[in-house]
Amino acid sequence: MDNLCVLIMAAGKGTRMKSATPKVLQPILDRPIIDYVISSVLKAGTAPQNIGVLVGSGGELVEAHISQKFPEVNILWQREQLGTGHAVKSARQWWGRYKSMLVLNGDVPLLLPESISELASSCEEYDCTVITFLADYHNEYGRIIRRPDSVSIVEYKDATAEQRKIHEVNAGCYAFRVKSLDAVIGLITNNNVQHEYYLPDALKIMNEHGMNTGAFPLPEEEMQGVNNQAELAKVTGVMRERIILHWMSEGVRIVDPANTYISADAKLARDVVIMPNVQIWGNSTIGEGCYIGSGSILTNATLGRNVQVIAYAVIENSELKDNSKAGPFCYIRDGSCLEENAFAGKFVELKKSHIGERSKVPHLSYMGDAELGHDVNIGAGSITCNYDGQHKHQTHIGSNCFIGSNTMFVAPVEVEDGSATAAGSVITFRVPEDSLGVGRARQKNISGWSSRHHKPKSERE
Ligand code: UD1
Ligand code: CA
Repeated sequence: MDNLCVLIMAAGKGTRMKSATPKVLQPILDRPIIDYVISSVLKAGTAPQNIGVLVGSGGELVEAHISQKFPEVNILWQREQLGTGHAVKSARQWWGRYKSMLVLNGDVPLLLPESISELASSCEEYDCTVITFLADYHNEYGRIIRRPDSVSIVEYKDATAEQRKIHEVNAGCYAFRVKSLDAVIGLITNNNVQHEYYLPDALKIMNEHGMNTGAFPLPEEEMQGVNNQAELAKVTGVMRERIILHWMSEGVRIVDPANTYISADAKLARDVVIMPNVQIWGNSTIGEGCYIGSGSILTNATLGRNVQVIAYAVIENSELKDNSKAGPFCYIRDGSCLEENAFAGKFVELKKSHIGERSKVPHLSYMGDAELGHDVNIGAGSITCNYDGQHKHQTHIGSNCFIGSNTMFVAPVEVEDGSATAAGSVITFRVPEDSLGVGRARQKNISGWSSRHHKPKSERE
């Protein structure tokens, strides 16, 4: 017999969200609610194959997400959503072979791994243990009824006015001895205001059968659920702050913690400095000593050490190696790379482009599908014409090249090592090594033109 499994309930409609997206796929920062719950369970030491997620309403979407992100986690279907008791019962086949089971509401994303471990250890003492919290505002959580040697739960909608005054409420996280749960799960009825099968009724039935029930409280902040948009925003705020505090404790300097967003998946090293209004999403990694200027948005960005991101840079799925520099006002995307000491400056866009060591693209440039060697200087306003309307083409610029301002590279095209282009050139074919590519009309001056055609306003009749 296997020891412990964790069943996450995520089949409910989430009606109160008033959204087409299933509740557990609603985002907290940049990840769906369910990811946080699964991550906490994994961090508590549960192997993914011992985790089951119950899906139902919008289940195809939830299943598609989980099988992509957590392929080893089991998907269990609750075809009809008749309540949490029915949900657990419908997965009986799966959990029947375990000794103990934790059942978690899929909408408690702030639940910590330590708390999951604590809940798991309660199985030694009780047939069922439930996590509670003290809610100090009006809410519709199930009320905890404590008696000297037992605990039971009455749903808010079924509670008397007196019971509704109870502050200790059900967080929707339970530990069960499987044998005991198996004995009572079939006895839950839907004889209540909502005509649902309530999992919390299992405690009452266990008590009637002489089994042991217990409860322990955790902080409200950790246990609050997500049932509507207001709660989603509140939980997002707590999660955001939790992540910020974590990175500050690891030596990251966050100048304005209230206006900084960092994904739970991002990794930051010590002595990183983050200026106000920065967002760091996805699997971004920021190396030691990096500076991230105001208004910058990094998504799946990999930064080496001492990278300087000057204000208002947008960096997506790209790498900036040690001592490179970007911004202000640049867009670096789609697998681009700044090698060590390279620079992409003001109003510069890089798409699928590789900028070699110490190479510079300082001003007003678009480098798309371009490969630059080391020690290249790209003059202001130069761009790659990489798209012919149907296909994208490559531009190769060798090492030690000096590109004159406003050069157009009509790709596919190559400039070999040590060459230059004249300012304003349209480069349409290869510039060989150690050469100057000139591709522009010659200037001629027409004398007297101005006085004939371009008289100042004051001299016109
Ligand atoms: C539930 C508890 C309540 C507790 C609260 C804590 C019940 C009857 N009540 O209420 O005591 O205070 O959680 O947040 O359990 N779900 C299914 N299948 C279903 C119904 C629900 O999988 O048929 C899932 C939902 O997706 C959700 C979880 O179970 O993740 C809880 O359902 P929800 O409707 O949010 O229950 P509450 O009314 O909040
Ligand atoms: Ca809920």
